[in-house]
Amino acid sequence: MRQYEEQIEKLLSQMTLDEKIGQLTQMGANVLYGDIFEANTDYIKRGEIGSFIVGCTPTQLNELQRIAVEESRLGIPLLFAKDVIHGYRTIFPIPIAESCTWDMNLAEKSAYAAAKEASASGLHWTFSPMVDIARDSRWGRIAEGAGEDTYLQCRIAEAKVKGYQGDDIADRDRLIACAKHFVAYGAAIGGRDYNSVDMSLETLYEIYLPPFQAAIDAGAESVMTAFHDFNGVPCTGNEYLLKTVLRENMGFDGVVISDSCSVRELVVHRMARDEAEAAKYSITAGTDVEMHTTTYRENLKKLCENGEIDVRIVDDAVRRVLSLKFRKGLFDNPYVDETREKKEVFTAENLDLALKIAQDSIVLLKNENQSLPLAKNIKKILVAGALAYSKEDMLGCWAACGKAEECISIYEGIKNRFAECEIYKAEDIDDAVIKAAACDAVIAVVGETRDMSGEAKSRASQKLSKEQSLLLSALSHTGKTLITIVVAGRPLVLTEEEKLCSSMIMAWHLGTQAGNALANILAGDVSPSGKLTTTFPSADGQTHMYYNHNNTGKPARDDFFATSKYIDAPIKPLYPFGYGLSYTTFSYNNLKINNKDLRVGEKLYGSVEITNTGDFDGAEVVQLYISQLYARKVRPVRELKWFNKVFIRKGETIKVEFELDTSTFGYYNSSAGYVNDGEMFKITLSPSSEGGLEDIINLIK
Ligand code: NOJ
Repeated sequence: MRQYEEQIEKLLSQMTLDEKIGQLTQMGANVLYGDIFEANTDYIKRGEIGSFIVGCTPTQLNELQRIAVEESRLGIPLLFAKDVIHGYRTIFPIPIAESCTWDMNLAEKSAYAAAKEASASGLHWTFSPMVDIARDSRWGRIAEGAGEDTYLQCRIAEAKVKGYQGDDIADRDRLIACAKHFVAYGAAIGGRDYNSVDMSLETLYEIYLPPFQAAIDAGAESVMTAFHDFNGVPCTGNEYLLKTVLRENMGFDGVVISDSCSVRELVVHRMARDEAEAAKYSITAGTDVEMHTTTYRENLKKLCENGEIDVRIVDDAVRRVLSLKFRKGLFDNPYVDETREKKEVFTAENLDLALKIAQDSIVLLKNENQSLPLAKNIKKILVAGALAYSKEDMLGCWAACGKAEECISIYEGIKNRFAECEIYKAEDIDDAVIKAAACDAVIAVVGETRDMSGEAKSRASQKLSKEQSLLLSALSHTGKTLITIVVAGRPLVLTEEEKLCSSMIMAWHLGTQAGNALANILAGDVSPSGKLTTTFPSADGQTHMYYNHNNTGKPARDDFFATSKYIDAPIKPLYPFGYGLSYTTFSYNNLKINNKDLRVGEKLYGSVEITNTGDFDGAEVVQLYISQLYARKVRPVRELKWFNKVFIRKGETIKVEFELDTSTFGYYNSSAGYVNDGEMFKITLSPSSEGGLEDIINLIK
């Protein structure tokens, strides 16, 4: 018998249909939904709400819980959920930034730290990690995930689920994780949020599903449906995706929750005629819990009574919700200790972690003449650009309970770190130019405010504002060494601007410790080690460019007309996936593959030597790509299959060993499922998705 089965069946047998449907109803509880008690108390008493998505204090949560436990007939506790995406009150870098650390230990630690803070405030469930692959950076939600690569996103999905859930979700400082948004949400046509996705099943299986599988295999207890229609059927009512793919093929047996209002949106999609039909399509497709709207509450009972829905479908969904509540320990411990929040939220330990992750998320894009780190003898620094002074924008999208006033702005960070220097602000471009003349270092901060990325923040152009480009241009004419810091939630088109400066840093939205992290990098206390997890296009129209594109029949070439390229933009992106500089340099030598002839399923073993050839200690992300040389289906030019971040002292050489499972070298073929051709593969060890040391292996079927 499975855990708690007896208790679940007993409870289920006592529940009325209304109470069962209550468990499948998640209400919102914040200003938008009116006073939480006024709006919901009667429903809670009648057992007609199963969970809340909240913005409440621990005292309020305990009171809501008390009503459920003490005043409802069966005393079933409530689950409290929130979007804790990159920290709760201590805000870590946005996910796309954190992915640039390529450090799974840190990814797990920040999830655990967020879980500790959120659970101390009374929460049980986070709607994270977002494991959507984003190959199109017009899509604003690229900020919320790990970028364009499936393999990397899989590793991060595992780390995040482990960090949130630990070994036992009943532990008081763990949260239930939710892998979202099922599925292929990042492939919205035109990069426009909520738009349709039209995709081959091979691409779905190869590129978009594996991160969900990784999250499920790591134990993710819940999955959220996506808003869009997948090949014409909205995900929330998509039986093929939720039943055949998620439950049957992927083996998921946890709770499926709709995205906010997406059950009711089946009407807007014009899939359903009315809310009753929307409820019917959603529950029968496999959406267990409805978030925010009440079409289940208002229609499921009647649909069951008149035989349109088999009540066993409702029962199964309720079993999954009850199981989650039992396993979270809510029947034994429904309340949060209200003294915890004060002690366990925004701790010194979490702030240190936020600083470390922010430093490691930073990607050095350009460093001409080693203009960074700043010289030790500088006396006057100009810090220009409105984003330099902003605390709020450092939070990034989805900042849970993060407070702007608790963030260190870039200006403040520089002031703290360079306490012996004079640090100047600039009112506007003219002021910046005047002040630059008197300074030894000029730092300009440009990019996106926090409300320019995230949900519903698609952009048709990824360029800087006119004002920001003018600022950089004006400062570049002062003859001073110009350091540009780019703050953003997505890759930007920086082709013209990068020519204007000596150094360029990609700083994303780095969270609470943004300013301190950047100042430590500028000072050279830490050498940058972040590498891009998404391609930086060199022109707007190039967007939707990703490193692991297929081999075409006419590969791009500048010297021949009929090749796959644009006539008005370069062939290459400005910065490729995997790219990032350091203050030191690394050289790759002696790639050795131990077993070049091997059978599919056997492990491939090898090593490469990396030498730190520069003047700083530093960390390098060693990347391994495979390229199948011949296949019955066109394969990507390269695919990331392994990476390792290693710290190397200056002058030192280390041997990095790798071990690869060749059963993952295959691909999906619409008729045969997963196939693994016996074939030749190129193995490349490189510091980015371009260049590197190569060797050939022969994989025998
Ligand atoms: C909509 C978003 O798509 C989803 O990611 C989020 O978890 C829910 N709203 C709840 O806020």
